[in-house]
Amino acid sequence: MTPSRRQPARSRITVLRHKAVLATVPVAVAALIGAAGPTATGATGTEGAAGAAGAGDPYFPLSGNGGYHVRHYDLTLGYDTSSRHLDGRAALTARATQNLSRFDLDLTGLKVTGVTVDRAPAAFRRKGQELVVTPRHTLRAGRDFSVTVTYSGTPKPVTDPDGSADGWIPTDDGAFVAGEPQGAMTWFPANAHPKDKSSYDITITVPQGRTAVAGGVLLGQHTAHGHTAFHWRETQPMAAYLATATVGKFQIEQYTTRDGIRVYNAVDPREAPAAAPVLKELPSVLEWESRLFGPYPFRSAGSIVDHAPDIGYALETQTRPLYDSAPDISTLVHENAHQWFGDSVTLTAWKDIWLNEGFATYAEWLYAEQHGGDSAQKTFAALYARPASDPLWAYPPGDPGSGGNIFGPPVYARGAMTLHELRKAVGDRDFFRVLRAWATGNRGGHGTTAQFERLAERISGKRLDGLFRTWLFTKGKPNSA
Ligand code: ARG
Ligand code: ZN
Repeated sequence: MTPSRRQPARSRITVLRHKAVLATVPVAVAALIGAAGPTATGATGTEGAAGAAGAGDPYFPLSGNGGYHVRHYDLTLGYDTSSRHLDGRAALTARATQNLSRFDLDLTGLKVTGVTVDRAPAAFRRKGQELVVTPRHTLRAGRDFSVTVTYSGTPKPVTDPDGSADGWIPTDDGAFVAGEPQGAMTWFPANAHPKDKSSYDITITVPQGRTAVAGGVLLGQHTAHGHTAFHWRETQPMAAYLATATVGKFQIEQYTTRDGIRVYNAVDPREAPAAAPVLKELPSVLEWESRLFGPYPFRSAGSIVDHAPDIGYALETQTRPLYDSAPDISTLVHENAHQWFGDSVTLTAWKDIWLNEGFATYAEWLYAEQHGGDSAQKTFAALYARPASDPLWAYPPGDPGSGGNIFGPPVYARGAMTLHELRKAVGDRDFFRVLRAWATGNRGGHGTTAQFERLAERISGKRLDGLFRTWLFTKGKPNSA
């Protein structure tokens, strides 16, 4: 079973002090201009339509936005760990996928003080989690455009439908920044649905003595006037929910693996004794996973081990998983397996979450099986023995039904059980071929449940629709083969 530490914590939201931010005159003026309706035309007279307010995900209808793709985010942040105030400037390079008279970004809380599009001031207004931007001119389909947003305030996490918190979560020495499924919008304006993947530059300035850690490679670190700026770059496509800018007092360890992967571990000293023996295994875990799933999909790796045990979960932040306390080996295996399943091969809808969690959980079972622990069959059998009334069978993993169910036991454990059933049906040889082909064939991109089924059928030459229907989509405890 999934260790309880990864289960969402319930109804625990840190109460934050609100810091009054004075609205500047340009904000008020821009807000007035921003009152243009959905059929607004640009000053050129070219017709365009408004980009959709969401990416069309039924579980999180306002997550993501229509009409454009973000190619690159360049985020410049300053965080004051004592006042919990964040100053931000986001510079986005995007490409219009339709003629756009206006478009949305996802951003919640915080105060926006200016927006430009192609370097010209643009009108904007706030509407719930949508930052609605109306550029001076219609943006032409297929063309690149740039957006800058300047903003500041005290970030507040979002409360997810299951009661857990995600986003920018303050800690006693900084912030634990985890964006799955919704929290990216609590700290930067984004096209925040996993359908949209982008490269990132993140520069974070924090008080000297604190460290700010994001994904990818640390390009530079500069201290002046009592502050340190950390510049991180992730060149490989990343979904917004996998970005982090976690801040704290950390011990740093850096090295390069035999495979040339650059490792950066940041560990809260309070967690260091418990974390050390587990983090030591990271290179061998990555090598083991690479043998099973194909080459590690990124150039950098590592861990952020925070001391924030109330959070109740870890997150597979791209290249560098984030833990709320020292992970055990199983959790390390799980979050790093997500680098293949979730981070490199990404969902197109939250309904498909078992493609992330079922796979990462099955990686834990395989690790145990190949390292002197229980066989996957034994783990499967213990779960299968649970009575029909057990929460494990509460809903089918391929159709969790709502955003409140995406991190529940059916997704993790029954999702992994589905893979074990597949393994029994096609045999080890084809099963491991399927896992590897899934990860390598969709590397850096996306995958759906239907595509996974087709791949498994193609590789095995077997009809598997019954198996997947039973294990992924049928309510109640399934019959096992
Ligand atoms: N994907 C994370 C994990 O498996 C869980 C994230 C939970 N997020 C949340 N808001 N409850 O390991
Ligand atoms: Zn997971």
